[in-house]
Amino acid sequence: MKIAVVGATGLVGTKMLEILAERNFRIEELFLVASERSVGKEVLFKGHSYKVMRIQDVINEKPAIALFSAGGSTSLEWAPQFAKAGTTVIDNSSAWRMDNDKPLIVPELNADVLTGNDKIIANPNCSTIQMVVALNPLHKKYKIKRIVVSTYQSVTGTGKKGVDQLNGERRLREEKREKEEKREMTEYPMAYKYQIDINLMSENE
Ligand SMILES: NC(=O)c1ccc[n+]([C@@H]2O[C@H](COP(=O)([O-])OP(=O)(O)OC[C@H]3O[C@@H](n4cnc5c(N)ncnc54)[C@H](OP(=O)(O)O)[C@@H]3O)[C@@H](O)[C@H]2O)c1
Repeated sequence: MKIAVVGATGLVGTKMLEILAERNFRIEELFLVASERSVGKEVLFKGHSYKVMRIQDVINEKPAIALFSAGGSTSLEWAPQFAKAGTTVIDNSSAWRMDNDKPLIVPELNADVLTGNDKIIANPNCSTIQMVVALNPLHKKYKIKRIVVSTYQSVTGTGKKGVDQLNGERRLREEKREKEEKREMTEYPMAYKYQIDINLMSENE
């Protein structure tokens, strides 16, 4: 099959490529899409280097499947155009989840409702997917009426930018700590390696 991955340079897109490789998914041709600023950038897949392409050029290639994970607005704009070209879009964003005309699929549960005419397939949010897989046997047996859920989302849920901020803050904090330690050592003798004032555990290694 010809496969397109839209959002291939992102956190989710990178993971999708990793899993396609891990499962040895049979790919005849692979097309990678990201934003305009990444066009021409090289991405490795199974030891081969692929250039990020413009989205319109990939539509023209008429891939059989396009895996979308490039944000809701990209999906709203471009998924219908892939569908029009005959491509089946599997969309990982929130764009089509509440659209009554698009099937909302968790393969382990309801893949059987799909027909060949479904050209845009939505999937639920990550916390929902894993929850409904676990709850399905209970639902079959007891008929669940209502679920009350609290989720605590990770920084990675915000994508690359979130992770870059977290790593940046960590790096700065570490640099600050090192500077502070050097300063302390020159101003007074240190019996402990780390600060002991207002510090329950002075040895934190
Ligand atoms: N269903 C789920 O379980 C689940 C879980 C997590 C995330 N998601 C969804 O997956 C999507 C991506 O999340 P992420 O964490 O991977 O984000 P991310 O790390 O920020 O990556 C975003 C990707 O989209 C590309 N992109 C941005 N604007 C584009 C455009 N106009 N045209 C084409 N490509 C564009 C980016 O390309 P550049 O590198 O060029 O910027 C990048 O490849 C989001 O919609 C998110 O809500 C779904």
